[in-house]
Parts: sequence; C-alpha cells; structure tokens
Amino acid sequence: MASESSSSVPTSTSAAVLAPSESIDPNTSISVQGPDFSSPLTLQAFIQSYERIGFQATSLGRAIDVVNKMRQWRLSDDPVGPDESDDYLDPTVRAETRCKVFLGYTSNLISSGLREVILHLVKNKQVSVLVTTAGGIEEDLIKCLGKTYLADFNLDGADLRKRGMNRIGNLVIPNDNYCKFEDWLTPILDTMLAEQQQSGQVWTPSSFIHRLGKEINNEESVYYWAYKNNIPVFSPALTDGSLGDMIYFHSFRSPGLIIDIVRDIREINEISRKAKKAGMIVLGGGVCKHQIANAMLMRNGADYSVFINTGQEFDGSDSGARPDEAVSWGKIRAGAEAVKVFADATLVFPMLVAATFAKDTQQI
Ligand SMILES: NC(=O)c1ccc[n+]([C@@H]2O[C@H](COP(=O)([O-])OP(=O)(O)OC[C@H]3O[C@@H](n4cnc5c(N)ncnc54)[C@H](O)[C@@H]3O)[C@@H](O)[C@H]2O)c1
Repeated sequence: MASESSSSVPTSTSAAVLAPSESIDPNTSISVQGPDFSSPLTLQAFIQSYERIGFQATSLGRAIDVVNKMRQWRLSDDPVGPDESDDYLDPTVRAETRCKVFLGYTSNLISSGLREVILHLVKNKQVSVLVTTAGGIEEDLIKCLGKTYLADFNLDGADLRKRGMNRIGNLVIPNDNYCKFEDWLTPILDTMLAEQQQSGQVWTPSSFIHRLGKEINNEESVYYWAYKNNIPVFSPALTDGSLGDMIYFHSFRSPGLIIDIVRDIREINEISRKAKKAGMIVLGGGVCKHQIANAMLMRNGADYSVFINTGQEFDGSDSGARPDEAVSWGKIRAGAEAVKVFADATLVFPMLVAATFAKDTQQI
C-alpha cells in the first residue's frame, strides 16, 4: 500500500481537483469576451459584443441572429415543394414572399418609450401582425391627447390618488388624460354604433382598433400607422382597460354595440395558417404571448421565435414558459430557431431593433 507523506498533495485530491479536460475544438467553440473600450466602438460593434459576454447578453446576441434570419428569409430560398400551389410557382413571387412577423407586447410597454420603437416597425412595415392587450391600444391613443411622465416606483399610492395621478412602474399619467380620452372616444362609439345598426355589420376588436387608428389621425400613434399600412392589430381582451370603462358607460347611454371576437380568432389563425414562414417576437407575457403562440399552432408551429420577458417557469405560467414548452404543444416547430431572453424588454428591445430592423437607418 502506497504511503502519502505529509508534505505531498494527496493523490486522490489532486486527481479530483486537477482532472484533465477533454480537448476543445477551437473551430467550433467561442471563448467568452467582453467589449474593448480602449478604442472607439460603433453602435453596431458595441451591440455585437454582447454575444460573447455570456448569460442574458449572449441570449440577446442569439435573439438578434434569429430576428435577422426572420428578416432575410425569402420563399425563393426553399425548393418548390411537390404540393406547391400555382400562386407560388413564379420565381418573382417566391423572391418577394417573406416571413410573416407577429409582434406581441404587453400594455405597459406602450406606456413606456418602447411605443416609439414599435411605431418605427409599424410605420416602416417591418411587422405583419400586432397583438397586445387593451392598455396597449388605449395608452397609445391617450398619448396623442396628453403626456405620460417619468416618475418614481416609490411614490405613495394614496397621495397620487388624491392628486389625480395614476402610476405604472416609474411612470405617471394624469387622470385628465383619461377624461380627454372619454371626450374623444364617446362620439366615435356613437358613430360606430350607428354604422353597425345601419349596415348590420358588427365590429371586431381588430376592426375597432383599425377605426380608432383612422380617427386619431396622428403620426405619433402606432395605430394610426397600423391603419395606414393595413397591419392588423388583435386584442382579444380589448375591454380590460379604459376602453372597457368607456364601452361600459356608453352601453348605458346607447346600448347595442357588438364587438365579435370570433371573427378575429378566425382572421389571426388564417394569417398564420397561410403564411409560408412565420416568426414571433413577443415582449412580455400573458395574452399577447399566448395569442400569437396559439395562432402558430394552426400552422404546426412557428419557424422563428424570440421571447423577451421576466417570467419564470417554476410556477407553470405561460408567461414564464421557455420556447421548448411551446414546442411540446406544436406552437413552435421542433428544430426551429428559438430563444428566450430573460430581461426587462425596455432594456433589450431597443438594442435588438437597432441591430436588426433599424440597422440600415443607423449612421454609426
Ligand atoms: N399600461 C398598462 O400596463 C395597462 C393599462 C390598462 C390596462 N391594462 C391591462 O392589464 C392587463 C394585464 O396587462 P398585460 O397582460 O398586458 O401584461 P402584464 O403587465 O400583466 O404582464 C404580463 C407578464 O409580462 C411580463 N412583462 C411585463 N412587463 C415586462 C417587461 N417590461 N419586460 C419583460 N417582461 C415583462 C411579466 O412576466 C408579466 O408577468 C391587460 O388586460 C391590460 O389591458 C394594463
């Protein structure tokens, strides 16, 4: 039996601590490296450096890659399938057929300055379909009537209530903005009800939002541009916000307005089913995330997926579910390009857009 002297490292310990590694292929492995600030960095080089930082910075790098693939894909990249319809045989049509990008976002992101980032995408026809919740519609329109202000997460709720201020995180919105919204919306609801009664045609959340985009007639509005560019906006829970309050009040004064969600579920699912390729970019969770994912089921799954949210999966919530959970449901295709960035979208989305959709308009 070998004896160990007190001055030598025990062999079993050194074997455990200094166990040899298998070799690493330098051609397929990427080492961790942060940005080098010793010389000037362009915006693009700075954002690109995130890819090698690790953790969520690397996930952002991966999200940029997935979005760029969504944007670059054309039907002409794929061979003509044996059951291809006649509509898609012409090479010019194939070269012009692009991936349909479904963008979803929670209401608070329209309250934040991400509204202007989303507006850029809608104005420049970079996205095909929008999905959000009621606040994501009304907060955009209300911002055309009065401003939202930077404030503090720690402001006292009871004091704000006395002062007629409403808090969303570290933003505040004066109550007056909602009064102006009621004054603006009520006559539009009267007209919409009259039109419904004359034509017999009921409204849907998307046709309702389209009409509000037309009526606001303001280039600072996301939904003005969605109306101009005919980009459908789906909001299945349209009444869960100030819009619902106004529709509720209006229903006493002038009952009869009908908003039909059945036509909209048909429309969003058909857009997804017919798309040659479809990608999701979803900021936050809840209805906006799942409505898009569920529409993807109709095509046997999304081809590209980028989720940016703070949700965690340990509680079983859909908000927190990673892309792989959606694969199990057929909402993302197995083997599809998919990534989740665990982060506040207000930090990440401007960088994602700067490195993808807005890359060509950046001078630096
Ligand atoms: N401005 C508002 O927030 C506002 C205004 C009026 C009505 N509402 C209503 O409140 C209800 C709930 O809102 P919701 O469903 O849009 O979303 P939500 O605020 O409930 O958020 C859903 C999940 O998205 C994720 N998330 C939210 N903000 C995020 C961020 N900045 N970065 C990353 N992840 C984020 C979190 O995981 C969160 O749990 C909706 O019905 C909406 O119409 C909201």
